[in-house]
Order: sequence, then C-alpha cells, then structure tokens
Amino acid sequence: MSKIRTVQQHILDEERLYPGATGDFTALLTSLIVAAKIISREVNKAGLVKILGETDNVNVHGEIVMKLDEFAQHTICLAMGHSGHLCVMASEESENIIPIPDGSKRGNYVLMFDPLDGSSNIDVNASIGTIFSIHRKITNARDGSLEDCLQKGSRQAAAGYFIYGSSTVMVYTTGHGVHGFTLDPSLGEFLLSHENITTPARGKIYSINEGNVSQWDPGTRRYIDYLKENCKDHGHPYSLRYIGSLVADFHRNLLKGGIFLYPGPKGKLRLLYEAAPLAMVVEQAGGAASTGTERILDVQPTSLHQKVPLIIGSRDDVAEYNQFYVDATASAAD
Ligand code: AHG
Ligand code: MN
Ligand code: MN
Repeated sequence: MSKIRTVQQHILDEERLYPGATGDFTALLTSLIVAAKIISREVNKAGLVKILGETDNVNVHGEIVMKLDEFAQHTICLAMGHSGHLCVMASEESENIIPIPDGSKRGNYVLMFDPLDGSSNIDVNASIGTIFSIHRKITNARDGSLEDCLQKGSRQAAAGYFIYGSSTVMVYTTGHGVHGFTLDPSLGEFLLSHENITTPARGKIYSINEGNVSQWDPGTRRYIDYLKENCKDHGHPYSLRYIGSLVADFHRNLLKGGIFLYPGPKGKLRLLYEAAPLAMVVEQAGGAASTGTERILDVQPTSLHQKVPLIIGSRDDVAEYNQFYVDATASAAD
C-alpha cells in the first residue's frame, strides 16, 4: 500500500476542488458509506441471521424481493432520509419517488439507488452490490420531485457502487477520475486501494446471458459470433465471464478490460440507478457505455424505472459492438 488514505479524506480533498462547497455533498456521501458498512456487515453473515431467502413481496418489476433487498433498502432510507442533504430519493424497490420524511431538513441533492444488485446471487454467496447515482436538484420547490430524478446521466454530480464480495469495495467518481476503496472491517474504514482506475481500451472478456440468444437482434448475434472466432483483429477468441450480478460483472471488466452486454430490444437493466451511474464510472475510467445507438449518459429519462439496452466496458470493444449493431440495422432496412 503506497499510502494510507480513507475515503473520507479522499472526499474532503475532492471537496476542496470546489471553493464554494458547503460540505453537504461530503456529508451526504459519508451517510451513504455508513449505510453500506451496515449492509456489508449483514451480507457477510446473512446465512447466520436468517436474512437469506425471499420475502412474500414482489416489486414493481415483478421480481420477488429478497430479504436482503428489503434490508438494504430500509437501511439506506433510514441512513439517508434524515441526512438533511437530500430533497428526494428513488429506488429500484420503490414504485414511486421516496419523499424526505416530514420534519427532516431538505437539501439540494437527489439520491437514486439499487439497494442490492444481483439479488439472485444472495443465497449462493456470489458477489452482490449497491449502485448509487447523485444529482443536484433542478426544481425550485422545497421538496424534490420526479422532474429532479428524470435528469440525463451526463448531469450526475457523482456515481458509484459498493461490491460485497471477497472484500467490500467502494468505487466512486465525482467527475475527477474513478477511485476504489477497500473496507478494513477491523478498522471500519474504507482505505484507498485502487487510485485513478483506468479501464483497458480493449479487453478479452465478454459478459452476456447466452441463454437469451434467441431474443438477440442480428447485430448482437453477429458480434458475439465474431468474438468467438479466432479473428485476425483480436488474434484470439474472447472468454465468456458472466456472474449474473451487474456490479460484479462490471467491476471485473472495469479492472481487467472487457464488455458487458444486456442488449435490447428493451433491455432489462434500469437507466436511472443501474446503467447511468455505471456509465459515468466507466467513462471517467476511459471506457464507454451505449444502448447500441446512443451514449447512455445522453439518454433523456422519461420514467423512473425505464429500462435500456446496456453495452458497457472497454472503449474499443463498445465501439466495435456499436458498429456491428448499426451495420446490421442498416442492412435489415435495405
Ligand atoms: P437486481 O438484482 O438489482 O434486480 O439486478 C439483477 C440484474 C443484474 O444484476 C444482472 O446483470 C442481471 O439482472 C442478470 O439478469 P439475467 O438473470 O436475466 O441474466
Ligand atoms: Mn440491479
Ligand atoms: Mn436490486
């Protein structure tokens, strides 16, 4: 370890980049970090405290809510609702926007989150995570509204995720590069472990659910076949790595290089609290994120839980996919 830096020290250093900073953003992130530490603690002993398995609830997406989904959702709402720095929240697990509790101070930030991503992996001990997106309020009312949530990803003030795996790692960006911190449970501190993450321009990994091949568009099908060939452009076939947990697949590809694809036509992943925050992270790390035809960060949201096709990872790999997709769409139109 070249230096001992906690995430709090790092956030304070970033705050100094903004002379007019009030410290609200720093306090907001600090509250979110506390929530993540609590979730990490429960995830790491889930099997012992009877919070594995399913609840009796189904969420707005028609997905069975796992006990840990509910625990993570509840923990973040409790930690953030009274932080005094938010005007509104939105979550994968809440059909509508989450207002700030009566009697709590309102702030100028918006927090949108996937409290627990990769829920299907909870009971089998594969890595899962929490994804977050932070925007600034754009309306004048005291309370935030849906309009404050439906902002393009390019306007995010910050974005990142926590991955609960062999260790718990926080990765975040405020637009000044991407930095990773590993939780030292004995200290209860996230310590700098991945400073200025940059993702390789091209990888050797592709991540996609091949079980959906019958639903793929022609461009996606041709692109995946191309990756499997011993093609001259790459000189080797790519390897398939797919955990079924977006945060885990994304984090591996961010560090090693590669491309993650959950293609259309509609996609499964949600724009506001999955695609857009990870798109900000990957672009800040030198990568790219698209729908196949549009930059994820340019997509204008129209609803809270809208889904987008997500192609994300190494810059040259994403560009190559986009070309396959556009060419196939063009030839289908001829
Ligand atoms: P969540 O657990 O928050 O609902 O997200 C699950 C997502 C994402 O983590 C993963 O990439 C994708 O679902 C896997 O979908 P398939 O099982 O259809 O491949
Ligand atoms: Mn998710
Ligand atoms: Mn989730």
